[in-house]
Amino acid sequence: MYIHDVLIVGAGLAGMRAAVAVPKHLNVGIISKVHPVRSHSVAAEGGINAAIREEDSWESHMYDTVKGSDWLGDQDAIEILCKSAPEDIMTLECMGALFSRDPDGQIAQRNFGGLGFPRTCYVADRTGHALVHLLYEQLLKRDAKVYEEWYVTSLIVEEGICCGVVVLNLFTGELSTIRAKSVILATGGYGRVYLISTNGLINTGDGMAMAYQAGVPLQDLEFVQFHPTTLKSTGILITEGARGEGGYLFNSRGERFMEKYAPNAMELASRDVVSRAEYQEIMAGRDIEGCVMLDLRHLGKEKIMEKLPQIWELSLTYAGVDPIEAPIPITPGVHYSMGGIPTNVNCETPMPGLYAAGECACASVHGANRLGGNALMETIVYGRRAGEFAAQYAEEHEIKGISNQHLADEKAKIVAIMDRRDGERIGAIRDEIGTLMAEHFGISRTKARMEAGEEKLAAIRARIPNVYIQDQSKVFNLELVDALQLLSIIDLAEVLAKGATIREESRGAHSRSDFPDRDDENWMKHTLAYKSEEGPRFEYKPVTITKIPPAERKY
Ligand code: FUM
Repeated sequence: MYIHDVLIVGAGLAGMRAAVAVPKHLNVGIISKVHPVRSHSVAAEGGINAAIREEDSWESHMYDTVKGSDWLGDQDAIEILCKSAPEDIMTLECMGALFSRDPDGQIAQRNFGGLGFPRTCYVADRTGHALVHLLYEQLLKRDAKVYEEWYVTSLIVEEGICCGVVVLNLFTGELSTIRAKSVILATGGYGRVYLISTNGLINTGDGMAMAYQAGVPLQDLEFVQFHPTTLKSTGILITEGARGEGGYLFNSRGERFMEKYAPNAMELASRDVVSRAEYQEIMAGRDIEGCVMLDLRHLGKEKIMEKLPQIWELSLTYAGVDPIEAPIPITPGVHYSMGGIPTNVNCETPMPGLYAAGECACASVHGANRLGGNALMETIVYGRRAGEFAAQYAEEHEIKGISNQHLADEKAKIVAIMDRRDGERIGAIRDEIGTLMAEHFGISRTKARMEAGEEKLAAIRARIPNVYIQDQSKVFNLELVDALQLLSIIDLAEVLAKGATIREESRGAHSRSDFPDRDDENWMKHTLAYKSEEGPRFEYKPVTITKIPPAERKY
C-alpha cells in the first residue's frame, strides 16, 4: 500500500514544478505513464512569456493575453499569471535554466504572436527540453517518490472527496491503489483525439477524462488551438519563434497574404487569426500542394543555426527542405487544448482534495485562444501554485480510508478487456476518431458538418465495447494501455463535439462559417460539460472580467 501527503499525476513541467513547490516535510509522490523527461512538455520549442524588462509591464502582458483569449479568459487568473511570471522566470534562472542571452548578458527575448512587446524568453528552439531537464534535476534533488511508467486508471473518490488513484504498474502489470491527502492532475492535453497533431502519442487527455468520469465537469473543450506552422504531412511543430525571428508566410502567388488578414501584426497576429488566414488561402486554391510557405532564407545561415537549429534539422530530416536554401511547406495543425478541468486561481477543482494545473486544467488563462509562450509560463506559475495549495490542503486534512471496491472495479474493467478474444482492433477505431475529428471539428466549423460528426462518434461509441487486444502479457502491456486511453479519447471527443455544436458564435479558435461573429450577449460564458448516461450534459458559467472590458479584436 502506498500513501502520500500530496500525489501528482503527470510529470511534465506543471507536475514537476508542483512537486518541487511542496514543502520538504511533506511526502510527495509523482506518477507518470512515461519517464518524466519523455513528457510532452519536452517538445515545447519557442519560449516562455514574462515581462522582465523595464520597458515592459505585467499589465501589458495581461492586456495581450486577454485580447488573445478573445475575452473568454478569466482576468483574475490572467493577472496572477502575468504578475507572477517575472519572479518565476528568475526562480528558473536560479535553478540553472540556460536561457539564451543578448550580447549584454541579459536573458534574450523574442517576438511571438499577439504580443505587444518581444517578451518570450527562450533556449534557442528547445525551451521545453531545457526546462524539463532542469525540473527533473530539481525533482531528484527534492527526493520525491517517482512512479515512472505507471498508468493511472481512475481517481478514488470517497464521499465526494478525492483521496487517491488506482494505478497500473506497467513493469509488473499489477494494479494497486495509492492514497493521498490531496491529488494534483497535471496530465497534459488531448491533442491525440485528432489523428495528426503536434502532440506526442501520449497526449490522450487521460487526466481530463478521469476527472470527468469521477463527476467533475470539463470546461471549454470546444476551443482547440491550431498552430499556424506545422510541417507538411507530419504535424511536426515548426516554432512560432521562426516568425518571431522574422520569417514570412507566402502563398502560391508569392504574396505575403497576412497583409489582408492582419495588416499591422502580419505573421505575428494571434494563432487563431494566422491559422484561419492560411486555411482560407489553401481553400481558395492559393496553396502549394496543400500548403503555404514559411520563408526563413532572408534570416541567413548564422541566425538560423543559432536561434532555430532544431527547425533547420526537422525541416531537413522530415521534409527534405534546407530552410537556409528554400522555404518550408507548412499547414495549420492541432496543437493545444485551451479547455480542461475547471479550477479557481488556487488550482482547486470543484472536487475537494483534487487540484489541476497545466494543459489539463482550465483556470482559464487562455480563454478561446492561447498566445504562444503562455503555456509554458502557465505550467510554471500554476504548477507551483498547485503544489503550494495542495500542500496546504494536505497539512489541514487527514488521510482517508478507502473502500476495496475501487480496486475491484478497475480489475474487473481490465479483465473484461483482456478476456475478449475477438472483435475490433483499437488502432483502427482510434484512426477513425482522429480522422473524423479533423474533418468535422477543424478550423472552420458548421452545424451540419458537426452534427454529422457527432453521429459518426455515436456510432463509434457503440463499437467500443467490442474492442479486443492480442497482447495477454502482464509486463509492459501497451496494447492494454491503448485500450484504456481509447476510453479517454471517446469521452473527450464527445464533449468537444457537442460543446462546439452548441456554441453558436465564432470566438478565438472556435470558428463557424454559419455564425461568423462573436456574440458576447449570448456566449460570453464558459461551457461546463458533465458526464451522464445520455452523453455530456451542459451548463455554463460566467467569465471573470476585472480590468479589461470586451472590445473588438484586430491585429
Ligand atoms: O511555436 C512554438 O514554439 C510553440 C509554443 C507554444 O505553444 O507556446
